[in-house]
Amino acid sequence: ETIEKYVAELVIPPVMPRDRRDSGTGLDSYTVGVRQFRQQVLPPGRPATTVWGYGSTRHPETFSYPAFTMEAEVGRTTRVKWVNQLLDARGHYLPHLLPVDSTLHWANPPGGVAWRDSSPTFTSTPGPYEGPVPIVTHLHGGRNAEESDGYAEAWYLPDARDLPAGYARTGSFYEVFGRKSAELFGAKWRPGDAVFHYDNRGRASTLWFHDHALGITRLNVYAGLAGFYLLRGGPADVGEGVLPAPAPKRGDRTGMTYYEIPVVIQDRSFNTDGSLFYPASRAFFDGFTGPYAPESDMAPIWNPEFFANAMVTNGRTWPVLSVEPRRYRFRFLNGCNARFLILKIVTAPSAPRPATPALPFWQIGSDGGFLPTPVQREQLLTAPAERADVIVDFTSVPAGTELYLINEGPDTAFRGGVAGTDFPPANAKTTGQVMKFVVKPLTAPDRSTPVSQLVLPPCEPLGAASRTRRLCLNEVNSASVRGAGPRAVLLGVLDSSGKPMPLGWGDPITEDPALGATEVWEIHNLTKDGHPIHIHEVQFQVVDRQREGQTPRPPEPWERGFKDTVVAYPNAITRVKVRFDQPGRYMWHCHMLEHEDNEMMRPFRVGLS
Ligand code: C2O
Repeated sequence: ETIEKYVAELVIPPVMPRDRRDSGTGLDSYTVGVRQFRQQVLPPGRPATTVWGYGSTRHPETFSYPAFTMEAEVGRTTRVKWVNQLLDARGHYLPHLLPVDSTLHWANPPGGVAWRDSSPTFTSTPGPYEGPVPIVTHLHGGRNAEESDGYAEAWYLPDARDLPAGYARTGSFYEVFGRKSAELFGAKWRPGDAVFHYDNRGRASTLWFHDHALGITRLNVYAGLAGFYLLRGGPADVGEGVLPAPAPKRGDRTGMTYYEIPVVIQDRSFNTDGSLFYPASRAFFDGFTGPYAPESDMAPIWNPEFFANAMVTNGRTWPVLSVEPRRYRFRFLNGCNARFLILKIVTAPSAPRPATPALPFWQIGSDGGFLPTPVQREQLLTAPAERADVIVDFTSVPAGTELYLINEGPDTAFRGGVAGTDFPPANAKTTGQVMKFVVKPLTAPDRSTPVSQLVLPPCEPLGAASRTRRLCLNEVNSASVRGAGPRAVLLGVLDSSGKPMPLGWGDPITEDPALGATEVWEIHNLTKDGHPIHIHEVQFQVVDRQREGQTPRPPEPWERGFKDTVVAYPNAITRVKVRFDQPGRYMWHCHMLEHEDNEMMRPFRVGLS
């Protein structure tokens, strides 16, 4: 059955209302819950979809997938109490919407205690997990203290009345960080919530928040737990009136007159009753038929990657946006679990597609804020979690014109190369299409600066590095990694002779930069696929990429600002320069969420603790 396209209007996420603004302390406070609700993700007339989403607990109508956008200012602190409200009306817990693989190394409340202190006994629970759902929220791209970062083992359950006996209510780092939070900020955590502080000391940038609970991030995010966090102001912003306006105002929930639009693109599959589909076994992927063996290395449910068959943009399948002949600023986020996107604007959505795009993208920013200068791009390659802040200039497009945002990335993992030559592009009828633009007459003059005259703030280089770490990405057949599937994906280090040592989440920390150190991390990708590598707590600079036997290539023009996620291509070394200026325990990982959930994630520590 096919889902009709370009029926529903694109939803522009309104601004998340805050609880209060304290001018004395410079603190903006929010209480943001996670709830389950139904939303019209499919076109009108089709069944609604049960999803999870964030919202302000004081305003029930704000619960939405994706979340309302959080607006923050450089120099003001944002304080958020994140509440797990995955409960029904009687206060009983809600089970997961999607099949949980309880044989992976995951948050695992029934056996959660076993994982504390790196106990060598992994106690998986046979059968599908149907208990309460752990969550913990990470502000992706934020440079925050460890207790506010959303560490994967700082998860917590809802404060349910029917919590089964013997369940761990929280992960092993919940209390550690909660205690620290209380000492530093007087912020009390109670099972069911956590209070995080975001310093907002970075550059103006497009950040996002999403769930990060250990081993079920792929499921919690797929169910809907993601939203934008726009950091504005400070010396690295361009100032009012220069870029397409207006920016959303706090408390404005109409959301319909903005020329600056955050756009999160995600692939999802649906059952005919409108519910979300996520594969319940590896049979979906590679014909695995069992036996179900929880104590063996055969994780029965986990899929190495999942590529869904429908495109959802800002929480609607294939929406349409009316635009005027003026400049728009789109903040694109690839919010897919595993899919790389190659976006283009064209005049016809399916074959035969015109060879040249109808309009270029002018990229002005990436993960960590503005680029030093705008970069014209015919197409936007974005890996999961990467952001592209772009201007699209519709000024010369006549009213009545229809344009399409298409995707020519593969329906599989991405290894680099050119669509149509090196890999087949996404299905032109489904995942190859994203959204439609309909150009309407101009209603008011466009006073924004033409891109050719745009002056962007400079990016200070990070300076000399004091050491280089040689790290690696591995895909191994492994029975030795606790809880991992037969093809575990791992990070690791190269030893002094250059031999890879793959390491899982539970292995001792190997990356331990000193506080204030600047380092080069040299990522050797020993797998067949490209991986988006994300480092928490920092915004780094891409140094270069080097294929085997070749000279290093400088970063792409659109990678010359600050980034928090970088694509590491197969058979190549990717070098990034990082300054670690916040002490604490963080993590770095592949942002293909199925990889992250199967050990392709490692803790790191800044400064001695
Ligand atoms: Cu966007 Cu560690 O995550």
